[in-house]
Amino acid sequence: MPCKQYLYFTENNGDLRVMPSYSSVLKMAGTKIVNVHPDNPKKGLLTVMASILLNDPKTGMPVSIMDGSYITAMRTGAAGAVATKYLAREDAITLGVVGAGIQAVYQIAAISKVRKLKSIAVADPNEKAVKTLIKTLEKEGIEVREAKIEEVCGMDILTTTTPVRKPIIKKEWIRPGTHINAIGADAEGKEELEPDILREAK
Ligand SMILES: NC(=O)c1ccc[n+]([C@@H]2O[C@H](COP(=O)([O-])OP(=O)(O)OC[C@H]3O[C@@H](n4cnc5c(N)ncnc54)[C@H](O)[C@@H]3O)[C@@H](O)[C@H]2O)c1
Repeated sequence: MPCKQYLYFTENNGDLRVMPSYSSVLKMAGTKIVNVHPDNPKKGLLTVMASILLNDPKTGMPVSIMDGSYITAMRTGAAGAVATKYLAREDAITLGVVGAGIQAVYQIAAISKVRKLKSIAVADPNEKAVKTLIKTLEKEGIEVREAKIEEVCGMDILTTTTPVRKPIIKKEWIRPGTHINAIGADAEGKEELEPDILREAK
């Protein structure tokens, strides 16, 4: 799996990534093409939309073209949960999430499977996104409440899923022993955490 390649559509506040991979064990090659356009929800479109193309390594023949948005959300949620399972404190019972978009839903659902959470809180200035997230997870039997960003950052596990380009998570809000999954800043120029958090992190 080579490093993903980026195209930056700076004038449109968006980018496109291409991610090829080949597994000789699975006998399959696949390429995911995925965008990130944070202004898309205002146009009634998702921020992240992916397609996956599978090719037969024997002949190179395309065998499937499929949606990749759901797989992306599931994979990213799973990555957050695996990191939490092995890196968060065993006794972590509270989860804070900054950003209430699509990835947040899957992060919460997946992390709920690796720790017995007593309290889940989310912060996002977008009221509609918060309401949608709370409703969606309610249907899965997961209770989430809205809270101020300072409170959310003080929880045992913190997950950030925003597309911001200037840090919004202040070091003074983070308690020692917090496990952080910072998943939003996944391209050049994106930054969610104050750099001192990373400097002092294990
Ligand atoms: N690390 C990975 O593998 C991975 C995978 C998928 C997406 N992402 C990244 O995750 C981010 C979110 O993706 P998404 O699909 O959930 O997008 P989304 O648009 O559905 O959700 C983003 C949410 O962040 C909120 N937000 C924006 N500024 C905020 C702020 N200052 N404080 C709190 N909330 C704020 C928005 O209101 C929105 O609800 C993007 O940056 C995307 O590139 C990373």
